[in-house]
Amino acid sequence: MKIVVLAGGTSTERDVSIVSGTGICSALRQKNHQAILVDVFCGLENVDWADPFPESYDVEQAVSYIKSFNPHIEELKKSRKEFFGPNVLELCKKADFVFLGLHGSNGEDGRLQAVFDLMGILYTGTGYLSSAMAMDKGVTKAMFQMRGVPTPGGKAMKKKDRVETLQELGMDFPVVVKTCCGGSSIGVYIVDNQADYTKALDGAFTYENEVVVEEFVEGTEYTVAVVDGKAYPVVQIVPVQGFYDYENKYKPGAVKETCPAPISEELTRRLQEYAVEGYHALEMESYGRLDFIVTKDEKIYCLEANTLPGMTPTSLIPQEAAVLGMDYPTLCEELIRVSMK
Ligand code: DAL
Ligand code: MG
Repeated sequence: MKIVVLAGGTSTERDVSIVSGTGICSALRQKNHQAILVDVFCGLENVDWADPFPESYDVEQAVSYIKSFNPHIEELKKSRKEFFGPNVLELCKKADFVFLGLHGSNGEDGRLQAVFDLMGILYTGTGYLSSAMAMDKGVTKAMFQMRGVPTPGGKAMKKKDRVETLQELGMDFPVVVKTCCGGSSIGVYIVDNQADYTKALDGAFTYENEVVVEEFVEGTEYTVAVVDGKAYPVVQIVPVQGFYDYENKYKPGAVKETCPAPISEELTRRLQEYAVEGYHALEMESYGRLDFIVTKDEKIYCLEANTLPGMTPTSLIPQEAAVLGMDYPTLCEELIRVSMK
């Protein structure tokens, strides 16, 4: 198949996305597809399906390759209004399929999915509505609450309606303050006093106009992929230090990820059931990954759903697939298969 792998974009997770996209493109080439890696925002001036890169997987080479398309990305972000770079939509229309290696706003939030639906372009992952709902942590919480998926209590607030104290929100410290539509834990703060709460709001509102203030749940993080409505094995995530923030997410060795999670069969089953329930609560299709926190007394809380979860070769879903005996290139093909249904 002729496959365009879209990566990059303009979100705070641009760099992670480039690493995901590179891995996917390389894996699809190993499976003999004509795959091409395209930065959705920078575009490609000259399109060549037999472009020599990437024959083998190498993150650093990939990142410098794709960054070389436009080293002045920050300036371009300020000056250009149109999201799609030169040739991108034309190329996607010509391809048999588009694999979305994008993460975060303008890639994972349903807008691009809606454009592609209208243009008749086939792509990986769930549709525009579930993407939009899952991207917004306030809407996700409301949907989980409505459909009986356990989630920490919390409130969403807009910048113009900023609430300065927890009393007014009817909440107590500690709380988590996070951007409504962020990813990879950028703009997430755990706070236990008024001064830090004020600072956290200031910080979170520099990224977005809406934030969520959520009851802090102490426990261990788990994540479960759901592919075509079925749960994959559970991963346990334990940071070596601190919490599972951006640095710990992407610094090798900073977290211990264990799959299958070293927990009872019963807890595994419950997590997998809630993952599937969370997936349906947000009307997700094709695939996604749901993140959880579990307290010492095994109370489960679903934190969020990722509709285009990390897909570097060492990301969480590839680890889960490996436990099922599926290697990374086969997983990439499987995600295409379930998305074409
Ligand atoms: N937002 C990151 C890429 C993830 O969920 O894996
Ligand atoms: Mg997440």
